[in-house]
Amino acid sequence: MKKVIECDGLIIGTPVYLNNMSGVLKNFFDRTCSWFHRTPVSQKPTLLLANTQGSGIKKTLNSVKEVMIQWGVCLTGSISRNGRNFNKPIKRHELKNFITSVNLNGYEYIPSFKEIYTYNVQRTLATNVFPVDKKYWEENNLIDSVYFKSAKINLIKKFYGNALYKFLCKVIKPIEN
Ligand SMILES: Cc1cc2nc3c(=O)[nH]c(=O)nc-3n(C[C@H](O)[C@H](O)[C@H](O)COP(=O)(O)O)c2cc1C
Repeated sequence: MKKVIECDGLIIGTPVYLNNMSGVLKNFFDRTCSWFHRTPVSQKPTLLLANTQGSGIKKTLNSVKEVMIQWGVCLTGSISRNGRNFNKPIKRHELKNFITSVNLNGYEYIPSFKEIYTYNVQRTLATNVFPVDKKYWEENNLIDSVYFKSAKINLIKKFYGNALYKFLCKVIKPIEN
């Protein structure tokens, strides 16, 4: 865990097992479920790898991506291999986005609407539901913006994030004692 938190960038790889990530990787992810609420790896440049005999690459990478979005990392792409091209060496262009992002320390990342959505769901839970999250979000200056501050957000995404947050705060009410 400590190494994952302290590194400059993450390369996360898995074989495809039953059209999904391996149990070993899933076990590791399960141990990070508090990171879904209070991420210590926000905007860390991340590259995904997967290899398969034949099927399941897309589904596997999407499953890993779901977790990465919850962690709030910078997604810089993915590399995959299958039974036909197992031995194909990784080319420089496949690493380009990842290396650029590491050099920029994760700054200037452009998040997708889905990433902004996920952030604002957690922002709402921190605001209204979980006091331990609220403390973390306030201490880390996360609570007052639509996404991590180092990211590049255009006006449409800013509007979307703020409107969503306002709406969710109305719908997801504080838990009464
Ligand atoms: C338990 C298990 C499940 C697998 N499931 C799939 C699968 O759903 N689709 C597929 O194309 N290959 C499947 N394979 C083949 C692996 O994806 C392939 O052998 C793997 O990429 C090689 O990595 P490894 O040697 O590190 O396990 C499976 C292999 C194992 C052992």
